[in-house]
Amino acid sequence: MTRESRCPFDPPPAGSAAQDAGPLTRVELSDGSTPWFVTRYAEQRALLSDPRISADVTRPGYPIPANSGSTSSPFSFILMDDPEHARLRRMVTAPFMVKRVEAMRPRVQEIVDQLIEDMLATDGPVDLVQAFALPMPSLVICELLGVPYADHSFFQRNSNALINRQASPQQRRQAVEELVGYLHGLLETKKNQPAEDIFSDLAQRTQKNELSSHDAAMMGVLLLVAGHETTANMIALGTLALLEHPDQLKRLQEEEDPKLVVSAVEELLRYLTITHDGRKRVALEDIEISGHTIRAGEGVIMATDLGNRDPEAFPKPDALDLGRDARHHVAFGFGVHQCLGQPLARMELQVAYGTLFRRIPTLRLATTLDKVPFKHDGSVYGVYELPVTW
Ligand code: HEM
Repeated sequence: MTRESRCPFDPPPAGSAAQDAGPLTRVELSDGSTPWFVTRYAEQRALLSDPRISADVTRPGYPIPANSGSTSSPFSFILMDDPEHARLRRMVTAPFMVKRVEAMRPRVQEIVDQLIEDMLATDGPVDLVQAFALPMPSLVICELLGVPYADHSFFQRNSNALINRQASPQQRRQAVEELVGYLHGLLETKKNQPAEDIFSDLAQRTQKNELSSHDAAMMGVLLLVAGHETTANMIALGTLALLEHPDQLKRLQEEEDPKLVVSAVEELLRYLTITHDGRKRVALEDIEISGHTIRAGEGVIMATDLGNRDPEAFPKPDALDLGRDARHHVAFGFGVHQCLGQPLARMELQVAYGTLFRRIPTLRLATTLDKVPFKHDGSVYGVYELPVTW
């Protein structure tokens, strides 16, 4: 669905119209299939936490977006069901828990401070994506996983191919193969030279036969891609949204309450919902919901960008209001697949927005909004470039 170019932060008008028409409707995909399209917050949360709904991409009826290529290689546990999903997810849960993530806050602050110093050392304008939004989460996830940051252009190129809807099935397959090959090599290195990082732990699990090398590498791809692409897009798009809402930006800069940056992050996650192509699932059994019957084997797409703009869950949903309590948003999904990295993403975003506008209070766009290249073609929404000056 196409967005209205004058409202680049809002869901596509066709999506909003579908929401007005009711909580469930049908959409047609490019392969001619017509999965259910769930537009309302309450129904989305009900279905995302329903055990009769499957995330297994290999099941017939799973809604496959255009160009996503072969489904025979599940992208690790994000596309699996319990108990296998839970078994694999449990192996990497501990490093993403709030307490462990909070211990990383000083290091994230250090990275943010350094990137801003480097930006200020130039005369501007700079592209905020390359100078700040991408390297910050990329450096952080590399340290956490134990991936050499020197390889970042290699994995960024390949992860871009994975989340770009224009990439051909062939390009996607090649990107997965290259990333998996790279991670196999890295896991071998970690077996011989273990360190305090997630991939060393996964390497040890393969040695103890708790995990196959293939599963470890696929999990590595998931963590590497999910760990920097999402947060990077959120930093850049959130910065743009704040620059375009000067009244809200002023609050962030002037209000002393440290809780404001926490609620600002939740509100920006809700308002922007960067994983904007919906949570995709397939029904395992017939499900009665809001006067409709989803039949076993039918595909279901939960349009969480619309759920996060549902007036029944968020009054005046189209207003960006940094002071509102938006913690119950579904920008991180809901149910068993709810984002594993959310404590890390939250902390990174709090440090990023909290520092950027304090250190550079005169930050502004170095172009006009209509010239900003938005990622209409990606499964994660954001901007390709964000020229800023100060
Ligand atoms: C602003 C940043 C982020 C956003 C908006 C985001 C969004 C999401 C969403 C919507 C899901 C649910 C997928 C579904 O139900 O089908 C998800 C799952 C996941 N996310 Fe994130 N994410 C972010 C950052 C991160 C980070 C930093 C990591 C760290 C590695 C991460 C790792 C994961 C993983 C592993 C899953 C799969 C969980 C499972 O299937 O059990 N994400 N994310």
